[in-house]
Amino acid sequence: MGVIGEVKGLSSQALWERAQRALAGGVSHDSRFLPPYPAYFDRAQGAYKWDVEGRRYIDYAMGSAAMMLGHSHPDVVDALRTHAAEGTFFATVHPLEVAWAELVQELVPSAERVRFVGSGTEATMLALRVARAFSRRPRVLRFEGHFHGWHDYVVPGMKAPFDKFPSLGIPEAIRDTLVICPTDAQQVEDRLKADRQIGTIICEVSGANWGSVPIREEFLRELRVLADRYECVLIFDEVITGFRWSPGGKQALIGVTPDMTTMAKIVAGGMPGGAVGGKEPIMRLLDPRTEVDGLKPAIIHRGTFNASPIVAAAAVAALKVIRTGEPHRQANRIAARIREGMQKVLDRLEVDGRAYGESSTFHVFFGEGARKGSIGDVSPAALRAMKRDALDVYTNGLRKRGVDFMSYTGGVTSLAHTDADVGPTLEAFQGAVQDLIDARKITLL
Ligand SMILES: Cc1ncc(COP(=O)(O)O)c(C=O)c1O
Repeated sequence: MGVIGEVKGLSSQALWERAQRALAGGVSHDSRFLPPYPAYFDRAQGAYKWDVEGRRYIDYAMGSAAMMLGHSHPDVVDALRTHAAEGTFFATVHPLEVAWAELVQELVPSAERVRFVGSGTEATMLALRVARAFSRRPRVLRFEGHFHGWHDYVVPGMKAPFDKFPSLGIPEAIRDTLVICPTDAQQVEDRLKADRQIGTIICEVSGANWGSVPIREEFLRELRVLADRYECVLIFDEVITGFRWSPGGKQALIGVTPDMTTMAKIVAGGMPGGAVGGKEPIMRLLDPRTEVDGLKPAIIHRGTFNASPIVAAAAVAALKVIRTGEPHRQANRIAARIREGMQKVLDRLEVDGRAYGESSTFHVFFGEGARKGSIGDVSPAALRAMKRDALDVYTNGLRKRGVDFMSYTGGVTSLAHTDADVGPTLEAFQGAVQDLIDARKITLL
C-alpha cells in the first residue's frame, strides 16, 4: 500500500508511540487496542492482511465482518476506481442510490422501502426514532448483551451488569426509554403486558455479539407473534447477519419478517455506510411530502454523506455478487470446517472448551462445564467471561502465528477463504491454546 509521507516505513511500536500523542487513547475505536500495543496493518487482499512489518495474517476479522467477499474483491475495486474518477461526492440524489436501494429491496424481505445512513450506529438510531414515531409509544424493549452501536439509546444493556450504565456521559433520563430483558418469550410478554409504553422491540438476530451468545430460532418466531399481539414495531438488527446468513439475511433464511431492519457493513460493500429497511406504512413517515401533526417532514433525518455515490458504487457491485449465494456457500463451508477442527484441537489438548457458531462464523467457549449439555444452556455471562489477561495471551498467541480473529470469541469467514487456510488456522489455534495452558489461564478436563 502506498503509505504516504511521514509514517512510511515506521514499525507498529513506533506508530503506537506517535499515535498516543495524536489520537485520543491512541486509537479510533475502543476495541482496536491490544496490549502491549496493537499491530498496524497497511495492506489486505482476499483472505489475508499484512502488518507494517510485512507479516501476513489469515484474517478472520474481515473488517469487523464487513468484507464478506474478501478484501479488495475485483468487482468492488473496479467500481471504486471508475466512480472515484467521476466525482466522489455531490450531496444530491444520484442514480446509484436507486440501484442500491432496489438491490436491498429485492434481497431483504422486510425492506419494502430503504433509507441510507452513515453506519450501523446511525441505522439503529434512525430505526428507533421511526419506530417510536409510528407506534406513538416512547419505550423500547431490548435484550441483555445485544449490541446495536454506540449511541445513547442503545449502550445501556449492552453489557452486564445491566442495571448500570456501561459508559459515562449518558443522561440518566435515557433509563426511562429502555426496558432491558433476557431472551425469554415469557419475560418479554410479561413486560409488554405490564408496560403499554413499550412500542418497539429491537433484537440482534444472531444472538448477542454476533452470536457469541446463541439465540433460539424459535425465540425470533415468538418475538414476531408478541410484537403483533402488543402492536409493537419489531426491528431486526441485521448489521452482522444481513447479507451474511443468506443473501437476504437471517430473516430470509428463517422466514420471519420483522417490521424494520437495520443494516451496515456488507450492505455498503465493506465501505462506510448503512441502511434502514422497513414496511412501507412505517417508512412513509420519512417521506418529505408527508405531513403528520403539523410536521413536514414528520421525522427529521439528515446526514451529509448518506448514500454517498462512491459507497453506493461499491455496494451495488458487492450486492450483485452476494445475490448469487456463492459467497455464502464458500464461507459457510470453511467456517464449518474450522469449528470442527477447533473442537478436535480442544479434545486433543483435553481442554474444557467448545467450538460453536452459525453460518460463516465460529466461536470458542473456554470454561468449566463447556462440554455439558447444549451451548444454549450456558449463561451469557459465562460465555463472555474470558479474563483480560487470558484473552491477551490468546489473541497475541494467534497473531504471532499469523492468524487474526474478530474478537476473543472467534471470527468470520468470507468468499476469499479456502480449504488451504484451514490447516494453518488450526495449527495457530492449537499453539494459542497451548499458550493458554502453559500460562494456566484455562481449565483442563
Ligand atoms: C449488530 C450490530 N448493530 C450495530 C452495530 C454498529 O455498527 P457500526 O459499527 O457501523 O456503527 C454493530 C457493529 O458491529 C453490530 O454488530
